[in-house]
Amino acid sequence: MTITAERSGQYALGDRLTNRLGYGTMRLTGPDAAGRPPPDHKTAIAVLRRAVDLGVDHVDTGDYEGPHKVTDLIRKALHPYPVELTVTTSVGARWTSEGRWVQALSPDELHRAVQDHLDHLGADVLDVVHLRMPGFPEPVELSPAEPMETLAELQQQGLIRHLGVSNVTTQGFADAEAIARIVCVQNHYDVAHRHDDPLVDALARLGIPFVACSPLGGFPPISAPGLARVAAALETTESEVALTWLLARSPNILPIPSTRTIAHLEQNLEAGARVLGPVELGELDRIGGVVQPDADL
Ligand SMILES: NC(=O)c1ccc[n+]([C@@H]2O[C@H](COP(=O)([O-])OP(=O)(O)OC[C@H]3O[C@@H](n4cnc5c(N)ncnc54)[C@H](OP(=O)(O)O)[C@@H]3O)[C@@H](O)[C@H]2O)c1
Repeated sequence: MTITAERSGQYALGDRLTNRLGYGTMRLTGPDAAGRPPPDHKTAIAVLRRAVDLGVDHVDTGDYEGPHKVTDLIRKALHPYPVELTVTTSVGARWTSEGRWVQALSPDELHRAVQDHLDHLGADVLDVVHLRMPGFPEPVELSPAEPMETLAELQQQGLIRHLGVSNVTTQGFADAEAIARIVCVQNHYDVAHRHDDPLVDALARLGIPFVACSPLGGFPPISAPGLARVAAALETTESEVALTWLLARSPNILPIPSTRTIAHLEQNLEAGARVLGPVELGELDRIGGVVQPDADL
Protein backbone atom coordinates (compact mmCIF):
# COMPACT_ATOMS: atom_id res chain seq x y z
CA MET A 1 0.00 0.00 0.00
CA THR A 2 1.30 3.48 -0.89
CA ILE A 3 1.76 5.63 2.19
CA THR A 4 0.37 9.10 1.74
CA ALA A 5 -1.22 11.72 3.97
CA GLU A 6 -3.99 12.05 1.39
CA ARG A 7 -5.50 8.81 2.68
CA SER A 8 -6.49 10.63 5.89
CA GLY A 9 -8.94 12.88 4.02
CA GLN A 10 -8.97 16.65 3.68
CA TYR A 11 -10.34 19.62 5.62
CA ALA A 12 -10.14 23.39 5.05
CA LEU A 13 -7.45 25.08 7.14
CA GLY A 14 -7.58 28.80 6.41
CA ASP A 15 -7.79 29.21 2.65
CA ARG A 16 -6.29 25.80 1.82
CA LEU A 17 -7.64 22.28 1.73
CA THR A 18 -5.25 20.34 3.94
CA ASN A 19 -4.64 16.63 4.39
CA ARG A 20 -5.99 15.79 7.83
CA LEU A 21 -2.89 14.03 9.16
CA GLY A 22 -0.24 16.68 9.72
CA TYR A 23 3.14 16.62 11.42
CA GLY A 24 4.25 18.25 14.69
CA THR A 25 7.94 19.12 14.79
CA MET A 26 8.51 19.30 18.55
CA ARG A 27 10.30 15.93 18.87
CA LEU A 28 12.90 16.90 16.30
CA THR A 29 14.77 18.70 19.07
CA GLY A 30 16.86 16.98 21.70
CA PRO A 31 15.56 14.98 24.68
CA ASP A 32 12.30 16.26 26.20
CA ALA A 33 12.03 18.91 23.47
CA ALA A 34 13.56 21.23 26.05
CA GLY A 35 15.41 23.81 24.03
CA ARG A 36 18.15 21.47 22.87
CA PRO A 37 19.39 20.93 19.32
CA PRO A 38 18.39 17.72 17.52
CA PRO A 39 20.60 14.77 18.42
CA ASP A 40 20.93 13.91 14.73
CA HIS A 41 20.65 16.92 12.44
CA LYS A 42 20.69 14.90 9.20
CA THR A 43 17.87 12.62 10.31
CA ALA A 44 15.79 15.58 11.45
CA ILE A 45 16.09 17.13 7.98
CA ALA A 46 15.30 13.76 6.37
CA VAL A 47 12.14 13.32 8.50
CA LEU A 48 10.82 16.74 7.46
CA ARG A 49 11.50 16.08 3.79
CA ARG A 50 9.97 12.60 3.97
CA ALA A 51 6.84 14.03 5.59
CA VAL A 52 6.31 16.47 2.74
CA ASP A 53 7.19 13.81 0.13
CA LEU A 54 4.44 11.65 1.65
CA GLY A 55 1.87 14.38 1.22
CA VAL A 56 1.98 16.09 4.62
CA ASP A 57 0.95 19.66 3.88
CA HIS A 58 0.41 20.88 7.48
CA VAL A 59 3.56 21.19 9.58
CA ASP A 60 3.30 22.70 13.06
CA THR A 61 6.08 24.44 14.93
CA GLY A 62 6.61 27.03 17.64
CA ASP A 63 9.18 28.76 19.76
CA TYR A 64 8.56 26.19 22.48
CA GLU A 65 10.64 23.75 20.57
CA GLY A 66 13.95 25.32 21.55
CA PRO A 67 14.11 28.89 20.39
CA HIS A 68 14.51 28.82 16.62
CA LYS A 69 15.90 25.31 16.54
CA VAL A 70 13.02 23.75 14.66
CA THR A 71 12.21 26.81 12.58
CA ASP A 72 15.82 26.79 11.34
CA LEU A 73 15.52 23.07 10.54
CA ILE A 74 12.25 23.58 8.66
CA ARG A 75 13.84 26.33 6.58
CA LYS A 76 16.88 24.20 5.81
CA ALA A 77 14.79 21.15 4.90
CA LEU A 78 11.86 22.68 3.05
CA HIS A 79 12.63 26.22 1.82
CA PRO A 80 11.52 27.32 -0.78
CA TYR A 81 8.22 26.04 0.58
CA PRO A 82 5.82 24.12 -1.68
CA VAL A 83 2.74 26.26 -2.39
CA GLU A 84 0.42 23.70 -0.82
CA LEU A 85 2.39 23.55 2.46
CA THR A 86 0.88 25.30 5.49
CA VAL A 87 3.39 25.91 8.29
CA THR A 88 1.54 26.74 11.49
CA THR A 89 3.41 28.41 14.35
CA SER A 90 2.69 29.32 17.97
CA VAL A 91 3.57 32.43 19.92
CA GLY A 92 2.86 33.32 23.55
CA ALA A 93 5.68 31.70 25.51
CA ARG A 94 9.46 31.96 25.53
CA TRP A 95 12.44 29.96 26.71
CA THR A 96 14.45 31.63 29.49
CA SER A 97 18.21 31.50 30.00
CA GLU A 98 17.47 29.48 33.18
CA GLY A 99 15.96 26.80 30.97
CA ARG A 100 12.22 27.13 31.45
CA TRP A 101 9.23 28.26 29.48
CA VAL A 102 7.40 31.38 30.62
CA GLN A 103 4.43 33.29 29.24
CA ALA A 104 5.28 35.90 26.61
CA LEU A 105 1.96 37.56 25.87
CA SER A 106 2.88 41.25 26.02
CA PRO A 107 2.67 43.25 22.77
CA ASP A 108 6.48 43.55 22.59
CA GLU A 109 7.00 39.85 23.11
CA LEU A 110 4.38 38.94 20.51
CA HIS A 111 5.89 41.36 17.96
CA ARG A 112 9.31 39.83 18.57
CA ALA A 113 8.02 36.26 18.33
CA VAL A 114 6.28 36.90 15.01
CA GLN A 115 9.36 38.62 13.60
CA ASP A 116 11.59 35.78 14.84
CA HIS A 117 9.39 33.23 13.11
CA LEU A 118 9.45 35.21 9.86
CA ASP A 119 13.25 35.54 10.02
CA HIS A 120 13.98 31.96 10.95
CA LEU A 121 11.49 30.40 8.54
CA GLY A 122 12.63 32.77 5.79
CA ALA A 123 9.04 33.81 5.05
CA ASP A 124 7.43 37.17 4.19
CA VAL A 125 4.17 36.14 5.81
CA LEU A 126 3.30 33.41 8.34
CA ASP A 127 0.55 31.03 7.14
CA VAL A 128 -1.17 30.49 10.51
CA VAL A 129 -0.11 31.86 13.89
CA HIS A 130 -1.66 30.33 17.01
CA LEU A 131 -1.89 32.44 20.09
CA ARG A 132 -0.80 29.86 22.64
CA MET A 133 -2.41 30.46 26.00
CA PRO A 134 -1.17 28.93 29.26
CA GLY A 135 -3.21 25.89 30.24
CA PHE A 136 -1.71 22.81 28.69
CA PRO A 137 -2.82 20.02 28.69
CA GLU A 138 -6.18 21.27 30.05
CA PRO A 139 -7.21 24.80 29.10
CA VAL A 140 -8.00 27.28 31.85
CA GLU A 141 -10.50 30.15 31.77
CA LEU A 142 -8.19 32.95 30.70
CA SER A 143 -9.32 35.30 27.98
CA PRO A 144 -7.01 35.56 24.95
CA ALA A 145 -8.69 38.83 23.90
CA GLU A 146 -5.91 41.27 24.83
CA PRO A 147 -2.97 39.45 23.20
CA MET A 148 -5.21 38.59 20.26
CA GLU A 149 -5.59 42.32 19.59
CA THR A 150 -1.83 42.54 19.08
CA LEU A 151 -1.85 39.61 16.67
CA ALA A 152 -4.81 41.08 14.79
CA GLU A 153 -2.74 44.27 14.26
CA LEU A 154 0.16 42.19 12.93
CA GLN A 155 -2.27 40.42 10.62
CA GLN A 156 -3.53 43.77 9.34
CA GLN A 157 0.10 44.73 8.67
CA GLY A 158 0.35 41.69 6.37
CA LEU A 159 2.73 39.62 8.53
CA ILE A 160 0.19 36.86 9.31
CA ARG A 161 -2.25 35.24 6.87
CA HIS A 162 -4.48 33.45 9.40
CA LEU A 163 -4.92 33.37 13.17
CA GLY A 164 -5.56 30.43 15.45
CA VAL A 165 -5.74 29.91 19.20
CA SER A 166 -4.27 27.21 21.38
CA ASN A 167 -5.10 25.86 24.84
CA VAL A 168 -8.41 27.69 25.01
CA THR A 169 -11.80 26.90 26.47
CA THR A 170 -15.02 27.37 24.52
CA GLN A 171 -15.33 30.83 26.07
CA GLY A 172 -11.69 31.59 25.22
CA PHE A 173 -12.36 30.71 21.59
CA ALA A 174 -15.41 33.00 21.55
CA ASP A 175 -13.37 35.86 23.10
CA ALA A 176 -10.67 35.48 20.44
CA GLU A 177 -13.22 35.22 17.64
CA ALA A 178 -14.73 38.54 18.79
CA ILE A 179 -11.37 40.20 17.98
CA ALA A 180 -10.38 38.47 14.74
CA ARG A 181 -11.39 35.59 12.48
CA ILE A 182 -10.02 32.38 14.00
CA VAL A 183 -9.34 29.60 11.50
CA CYS A 184 -8.35 26.82 13.91
CA VAL A 185 -8.07 25.79 17.54
CA GLN A 186 -5.11 23.71 18.72
CA ASN A 187 -5.69 21.90 22.02
CA HIS A 188 -4.55 18.67 23.58
CA TYR A 189 -6.97 15.88 22.70
CA ASP A 190 -6.58 12.15 22.29
CA VAL A 191 -8.56 8.94 22.75
CA ALA A 192 -7.93 9.01 26.51
CA HIS A 193 -8.19 12.80 27.10
CA ARG A 194 -11.56 14.00 25.92
CA HIS A 195 -12.26 17.08 28.01
CA ASP A 196 -12.67 18.99 24.74
CA ASP A 197 -15.45 16.82 23.29
CA PRO A 198 -17.95 19.71 23.35
CA LEU A 199 -15.48 22.13 21.72
CA VAL A 200 -14.65 19.62 18.96
CA ASP A 201 -18.33 19.30 18.10
CA ALA A 202 -19.07 23.02 18.36
CA LEU A 203 -16.18 23.84 16.01
CA ALA A 204 -17.27 21.10 13.59
CA ARG A 205 -20.65 22.81 13.28
CA LEU A 206 -18.81 26.01 12.33
CA GLY A 207 -16.48 24.24 9.88
CA ILE A 208 -13.41 25.14 11.97
CA PRO A 209 -10.56 22.64 12.39
CA PHE A 210 -9.68 21.31 15.82
CA VAL A 211 -5.94 20.58 15.66
CA ALA A 212 -5.26 17.75 18.09
CA CYS A 213 -1.85 18.40 19.61
CA SER A 214 -0.04 15.61 21.46
CA PRO A 215 -2.46 13.18 19.75
CA LEU A 216 -0.46 10.20 21.04
CA GLY A 217 -0.62 11.53 24.59
CA GLY A 218 2.59 13.60 24.52
CA PHE A 219 4.41 13.26 27.86
CA PRO A 220 3.56 10.51 28.83
CA PRO A 221 2.19 8.49 25.90
CA ILE A 222 -1.38 7.17 26.13
CA SER A 223 -1.62 3.93 28.04
CA ALA A 224 -5.01 2.24 28.13
CA PRO A 225 -5.88 -1.47 28.16
CA GLY A 226 -8.70 -0.86 25.66
CA LEU A 227 -6.29 0.70 23.19
CA ALA A 228 -3.84 -2.19 23.57
CA ARG A 229 -6.66 -4.73 23.05
CA VAL A 230 -7.90 -3.08 19.85
CA ALA A 231 -4.35 -2.74 18.51
CA ALA A 232 -3.64 -6.42 19.22
CA ALA A 233 -6.92 -7.51 17.60
CA LEU A 234 -6.11 -5.52 14.46
CA GLU A 235 -2.44 -6.58 14.51
CA THR A 236 -1.25 -3.01 14.50
CA THR A 237 0.22 -0.50 16.95
CA GLU A 238 -1.50 1.51 19.67
CA SER A 239 -0.21 4.73 18.04
CA GLU A 240 -1.84 3.87 14.74
CA VAL A 241 -5.17 3.02 16.39
CA ALA A 242 -5.07 6.23 18.46
CA LEU A 243 -4.61 8.30 15.29
CA THR A 244 -7.26 6.42 13.31
CA TRP A 245 -9.69 6.95 16.19
CA LEU A 246 -9.08 10.72 16.05
CA LEU A 247 -9.76 10.75 12.31
CA ALA A 248 -12.97 8.79 12.88
CA ARG A 249 -14.09 10.94 15.82
CA SER A 250 -14.95 14.07 13.82
CA PRO A 251 -14.10 15.30 10.31
CA ASN A 252 -12.68 18.59 11.66
CA ILE A 253 -9.96 16.92 13.77
CA LEU A 254 -6.46 17.39 12.35
CA PRO A 255 -3.95 15.33 14.38
CA ILE A 256 -0.31 16.50 14.40
CA PRO A 257 1.74 13.60 15.81
CA SER A 258 5.42 14.31 16.27
CA THR A 259 8.28 11.89 15.82
CA ARG A 260 11.98 12.00 15.22
CA THR A 261 12.02 8.84 13.08
CA ILE A 262 11.01 8.12 9.51
CA ALA A 263 9.69 4.71 10.55
CA HIS A 264 7.22 6.22 13.04
CA LEU A 265 6.28 8.99 10.59
CA GLU A 266 5.32 6.36 8.01
CA GLN A 267 3.42 4.28 10.57
CA ASN A 268 1.49 7.37 11.64
CA LEU A 269 0.50 8.16 8.08
CA GLU A 270 -0.71 4.59 7.62
CA ALA A 271 -3.35 5.38 10.24
CA GLY A 272 -5.11 7.45 7.58
CA ALA A 273 -5.80 4.38 5.49
CA ARG A 274 -7.25 2.27 8.31
CA VAL A 275 -10.97 1.95 9.04
CA LEU A 276 -12.27 1.05 12.51
CA GLY A 277 -15.44 -1.00 12.80
CA PRO A 278 -18.27 -0.35 15.29
CA VAL A 279 -16.93 -2.86 17.82
CA GLU A 280 -13.48 -1.24 17.92
CA LEU A 281 -14.96 2.25 17.97
CA GLY A 282 -17.21 1.27 20.88
CA GLU A 283 -14.28 -0.06 22.89
CA LEU A 284 -12.13 3.00 22.12
CA ASP A 285 -14.96 5.40 22.96
CA ARG A 286 -15.14 3.92 26.45
CA ILE A 287 -11.48 4.77 27.17
CA GLY A 288 -12.16 8.51 27.37
CA GLY A 289 -14.92 8.13 29.97
CA VAL A 290 -18.07 10.20 30.07
CA VAL A 291 -18.67 12.43 27.08
CA GLN A 292 -19.23 16.02 28.18
CA PRO A 293 -22.43 17.94 27.45
CA ASP A 294 -22.73 19.99 24.28
CA ALA A 295 -21.22 23.47 23.98
CA ASP A 296 -22.78 26.40 22.16
CA LEU A 297 -20.71 28.87 20.21
N1 LIG B 1 -0.17 24.03 21.65
C1 LIG B 1 0.50 23.45 22.60
O1 LIG B 1 0.50 23.89 23.74
C2 LIG B 1 1.23 22.18 22.31
C3 LIG B 1 1.74 21.40 23.35
C4 LIG B 1 2.38 20.19 23.03
C5 LIG B 1 2.51 19.80 21.69
N2 LIG B 1 2.02 20.60 20.71
C6 LIG B 1 2.11 20.19 19.28
O2 LIG B 1 1.74 18.83 19.16
C7 LIG B 1 2.78 18.11 18.48
C8 LIG B 1 2.85 16.71 19.02
O3 LIG B 1 3.03 16.75 20.41
P1 LIG B 1 3.92 15.75 21.27
O4 LIG B 1 5.20 15.48 20.59
O5 LIG B 1 3.93 16.23 22.66
O6 LIG B 1 3.05 14.45 21.35
P2 LIG B 1 2.67 13.18 20.50
O7 LIG B 1 2.73 13.42 19.05
O8 LIG B 1 1.41 12.75 21.13
O9 LIG B 1 3.79 12.12 20.94
C9 LIG B 1 5.09 12.15 20.48
C10 LIG B 1 5.77 10.93 21.09
O10 LIG B 1 5.21 9.76 20.50
C11 LIG B 1 6.25 8.98 19.91
N3 LIG B 1 5.75 8.42 18.65
C12 LIG B 1 5.37 9.08 17.53
N4 LIG B 1 4.94 8.22 16.60
C13 LIG B 1 5.04 6.99 17.13
C14 LIG B 1 4.77 5.68 16.66
N5 LIG B 1 4.27 5.46 15.43
N6 LIG B 1 5.01 4.62 17.49
C15 LIG B 1 5.50 4.82 18.73
N7 LIG B 1 5.79 6.04 19.23
C16 LIG B 1 5.56 7.10 18.45
C17 LIG B 1 7.41 9.91 19.70
O11 LIG B 1 8.61 9.22 19.82
P3 LIG B 1 9.59 9.01 18.54
O12 LIG B 1 10.22 10.33 18.28
O13 LIG B 1 10.54 7.97 19.02
O14 LIG B 1 8.73 8.54 17.41
C18 LIG B 1 7.26 10.89 20.85
O15 LIG B 1 7.87 10.38 22.01
C19 LIG B 1 4.04 18.95 18.71
O16 LIG B 1 4.98 18.78 17.69
C20 LIG B 1 3.49 20.35 18.70
O17 LIG B 1 3.40 20.75 17.34
C21 LIG B 1 1.39 21.77 20.98
